[in-house]
Amino acid sequence: MLLKRIMKQSLSLTFSLALLTCLSLAGCAIEPRISYQRDVHPIFEEKCTGCHTPPYGEGYRQTGLDMGSYETLVQGSIYGPVIVPGNSRKSALNILVEGRAGDLSRALEIKHKPMTDREIEVLRLWVGQGALNN
Ligand code: HEC
Repeated sequence: MLLKRIMKQSLSLTFSLALLTCLSLAGCAIEPRISYQRDVHPIFEEKCTGCHTPPYGEGYRQTGLDMGSYETLVQGSIYGPVIVPGNSRKSALNILVEGRAGDLSRALEIKHKPMTDREIEVLRLWVGQGALNN
């Protein structure tokens, strides 16, 4: 149990270091492999599911977007998918967290908790790598 936890911790440390090194080098060639379970889901748990899970989450009630699990996330909202696997530029989720939604959607952005550069980068890489349930 403990060993597993330590391994998990050192794995995520290695990962963070790799990502940081990568972020600081322009045109970094080695892209860290992102895992939904290890890297992405914890970000959603911390910053999103408070509002994006049924039945009371405000984001869920207004858009139907349930971010509690991979399966419900890829189902998207009542307006359609929020992720385009392989294309973070076009994914509504990335557009929103990267602040690319523009003036018209400023109100939408204000409702969302600010994300760190690392979190934004993890989500960008994950979607770019196919938004897998890995
Ligand atoms: C404080 C509550 C709250 C939190 C936290 C929150 N959301 Fe939302 N979210 C909302 C509300 C409310 C809406 C609908 C806003 C509107 O339509 O004006 C929304 C809408 C969205 C939409 C647009 C859905 C669509 O198809 O129009 C996406 C994508 C989204 N949220 C992603 C996220 C992500 C990713 C996170 C975590 C980083 C997050 N949200 C955290 C409340 C929240």
